[in-house]
Amino acid sequence: MKLPKYKCENCGYEESLDKNIYFCPRCGDPLTIVYDEDELHGISFKGKGVWRYKDVLPVSSEKPVTLNEGGTPLHQSVSLYKEIGIKELWIKNEGLNPTGSFKDRGMTVGVTRALELGARSVICASTGNTAASLSAYAARAGLRSYVVVPEGSIALGKLAQARAAGAKIVKVRGNFDYALKMVRTLATMTTETYLLNSVNPFRIEGQKTLAYEIIEEYGSPDWIFIPVGNAGNITALWKGLKELKSIGLLEKLPKLAGVQAEGASPIYRAFAEQKEEIIPIQNPQTVATAIKIGNPASWRRAMRAVKESGGVMLSVSDQEILEYQKKLSSKEGIFVEPASAASIAGLAKASLHNIVDKNDRVVAVVTGNGLKDPESLMKIDTEEVTIDADINELKKVINN
Ligand SMILES: Cc1ncc(COP(=O)(O)O)c(C=O)c1O
Ligand SMILES: [Zn+2]
Repeated sequence: MKLPKYKCENCGYEESLDKNIYFCPRCGDPLTIVYDEDELHGISFKGKGVWRYKDVLPVSSEKPVTLNEGGTPLHQSVSLYKEIGIKELWIKNEGLNPTGSFKDRGMTVGVTRALELGARSVICASTGNTAASLSAYAARAGLRSYVVVPEGSIALGKLAQARAAGAKIVKVRGNFDYALKMVRTLATMTTETYLLNSVNPFRIEGQKTLAYEIIEEYGSPDWIFIPVGNAGNITALWKGLKELKSIGLLEKLPKLAGVQAEGASPIYRAFAEQKEEIIPIQNPQTVATAIKIGNPASWRRAMRAVKESGGVMLSVSDQEILEYQKKLSSKEGIFVEPASAASIAGLAKASLHNIVDKNDRVVAVVTGNGLKDPESLMKIDTEEVTIDADINELKKVINN
């Protein structure tokens, strides 16, 4: 098989994968890994999870650093699809990955690459899930991990995961965008500490297996809805879908809907105002801390994905996010963190505005497990009573 190479989708620059780089030296955009289309045609897969797609992953390792990521359930909606007003809704539950988010798909490939390169340690800036995932995979690989997080903006469960895995936790006085800028600069100064944010092309390769799984299991939906923060995951999803078309496993590409939180929605704003460039948001705000990002590194690739697919960018309020987080649990039994509910809240909005049709078949990706951020749910109204340890008291409650 012809070796894959780096390519800049923005300006066309190409480079061999032997080099350890993340960004295009000509225009600064994150690099993508590309394969020879002819070589992809007719490829087949075996096994389960991310490594089922080994032949379209750019690492040669016989022994990947793995926790059996991928192979997540695709649940058919039993109730919300009716309320939203569409024919079929399927929910891809990425919160059931080993560390509770989709990041594991990218991390298994990224940390395997780190070992191949002989890195001594790994680093990321994170709104929480990347830190939780990186620290677990680094622990498994025997690598030191550093996670740089915005002080006070990380959900408790995610911080606990990084602490347990033994990461060095660096809290920055500032938001995620500052943290990412710092680790990006550090990555230009050393090769011993490998950068594993989604600007790393190997992370995107792992994450594209989300598309492979959806299409192999379901076929081709009319739409795929996905939350957007730094815009790596929507980039990976679109890359995977386009590869599937090249391979001959997908005839018609679905439309993509990327959903941002209102207070952190620079890509949505540029899309809505038909601007060529985003205007970064200096002080992003949202209850969905995982997507509280004002200057998304992969915004160009996200915008291209949405436009090429004939889809849309959307934004949803914190209230809508929390409403659909609760509904996913109370109507479907699926407990997700706030950022993940953005995809369903976005779908409800798209249906209301006739962006999706009532006959459309939709897959919505929910990206992270609700257990990571229980605090967000402690503020909502629930049915709770406290009673004495007396059976009559209990009977009174049940009879009500
Ligand atoms: C739960 C969850 N959903 C969505 C996202 C957004 O993904 P991306 O930054 O690749 O757009 C993140 C990123 O941290 C996340 O943790
Ligand atoms: Zn370039």
